[in-house]
Amino acid sequence: MCGIVAYIGQREAYPIILKGLKRLEYRGYDSAGVALLNGSLRVYKKKGKVAALEESLVGKAVHAHAGIGHTRWATHGEPSDRNAHPHLSASGKLAMIHNGIIENYAQLKSDLQKKGYEFKSDTDTEVLLNFIEDIHINNGGNLEEAIRIALRRVVGAYVIVVLDQDHPDTLIAARKGSPLVIGVGKDEHFLASDASPIIEYTKEVVYVNDYELAILKPDELVLKNLGNDKLTPFIQKLDLELAAIEKGGYDSFMLKEIFEQPHTIYDCLRGRLDATAGTITMSGVQSCMQYLKEANRILIIACGTSWHAGLVAEYIIEELCRIPVEVEYASEFRYRNPIINKGDIIIAVSQSGETADTLVAIEKAKEQGAIIFGILNVVGSSIARASHAGAYTHAGPEIGVASTKAFTAQLVVLTMVALKLSNERGTIDQKRYLHLLNELQQIPDKVATVLQQNEHISALAEKYKDARDFLYLGRGYNFPIALEGALKLKEISYIHAEGYPAAEMKHGPIALVDEKLPVVFVATRDSYHEKIVSNIQEIKARKGKVVAVISEGDDVIEGMADDVIKVPEADEIVAPLLSVIPLQLLSYHIGMAKDLDVDKPRNLAKSVTVE
Ligand code: G6P
Repeated sequence: MCGIVAYIGQREAYPIILKGLKRLEYRGYDSAGVALLNGSLRVYKKKGKVAALEESLVGKAVHAHAGIGHTRWATHGEPSDRNAHPHLSASGKLAMIHNGIIENYAQLKSDLQKKGYEFKSDTDTEVLLNFIEDIHINNGGNLEEAIRIALRRVVGAYVIVVLDQDHPDTLIAARKGSPLVIGVGKDEHFLASDASPIIEYTKEVVYVNDYELAILKPDELVLKNLGNDKLTPFIQKLDLELAAIEKGGYDSFMLKEIFEQPHTIYDCLRGRLDATAGTITMSGVQSCMQYLKEANRILIIACGTSWHAGLVAEYIIEELCRIPVEVEYASEFRYRNPIINKGDIIIAVSQSGETADTLVAIEKAKEQGAIIFGILNVVGSSIARASHAGAYTHAGPEIGVASTKAFTAQLVVLTMVALKLSNERGTIDQKRYLHLLNELQQIPDKVATVLQQNEHISALAEKYKDARDFLYLGRGYNFPIALEGALKLKEISYIHAEGYPAAEMKHGPIALVDEKLPVVFVATRDSYHEKIVSNIQEIKARKGKVVAVISEGDDVIEGMADDVIKVPEADEIVAPLLSVIPLQLLSYHIGMAKDLDVDKPRNLAKSVTVE
């Protein structure tokens, strides 16, 4: 979390940094700040979103050709002007931005305090910066060396960028555990947490690896490891268009991304699934097919919405491939002493490919000999690089903090993996295999049909927006969709919502039911249909309000529910791809009806790079 941007070159640094910070705001928006170097260092910072910083800088001196900027998701120290980055060192000569957590900051701080250092903020960042400065003062003024020495002593994760008043032509950056991209222009360099602040200026980028240090001048890029050995930067061409990271006429990224789903799902299937030929072509899957075929167990590791995609996949893979599947929260898995046996395959699911818990969890599993298969959206991300093989979701940049299009793309990839594997293992009969290929191919058009109900869902949002709590219920393949619907509502509207297996609600949540509680049933027609009809009756008997997502033509539930949202008929294996769409729209419209910032819900960040 936290977004960082830096520039050094011939252009005005401030507008580039400001625009970049706006693009990176999805990573955190508790405060924002810039340090600009024009003879002396000027630091401006403000609690709140980047717009607040921008407003506070109108009329201020912002001329500079070198600068660093930061948008913060608070860890150490409350969101405030004081704790905002950049921080200045005690001498006022160094300015630094940081993304990550310095775990041994307390010890470092007390050592520095004993030497007389005073701190203006509560952050671990200011501690690291003064630690660097202290070494710098004592080592004869070699800042690069001081940074290297300091980072060798640091426990934790970081991307840092340091600007030195005495060396206005140099930026020094380093990475461990948090993402960092360098944009290489003509006589200029850019630094950012992802490529979105850079693509407007150059498509040539270098992804910095852990334990690497980048020393940037306008016309020179030097990459080193912490041992001071020079490395050859690997310059890659970005395959990303500016339009993909703009709103394109929608009022929010969230709505744009929900409406992009017919395309993103199509893009995800394109070139892979051929229903006529009966084939699924996925080179990443093919490359480790032998391991997958012989797997004793599949462990799916993820966080948040990606974890929900994993949960749907558990049902699908066990049904089609007859391989036991366990779905793990990365944050729990990494701190257990997990049992990994020969023949276990880990599937890591992550939109960003940077989620710290997921990354560490797979590294831990790798150490124990597991094969890691990554299902990721961001090309070249840390988890992508840490995986042995994988498949990208091709959903394009997802900027709304709450995941929508990345989730459906993850489900599509996971379903294709399950189909391909079941076909290879011979655990699916040919007729069902071909039928499911066909069903999957029809999903983009069916999603487009669901989206036509936007107005209807908006009216439902108006009707239910004042509810204090919501319950989401589903069975089988739709149970994880109930969890996802509840998560979306919590994230976007701040209404308390719980997702539950529909039958399990009798063991607790049913006590919450009264005439004020909306209960959203995810009840598309499947093998559990009669059972969920009974569950709806149980809620109705207790005067709960039932909103049901049903298959077209389901008169039974339509006759019982207070409100319904219809989705096209589909096989139960692919139905979650349809039933989740109304739930995304419902949370979007409730958030909008409550006048909330749906793209940047409070306290959240898109890319959780701290544990
Ligand atoms: C954050 C985001 C969620 C996302 C989760 C996992 O909490 O707000 O939308 O599902 O992280 O992120 P990942 O990038 O690993 O899928």
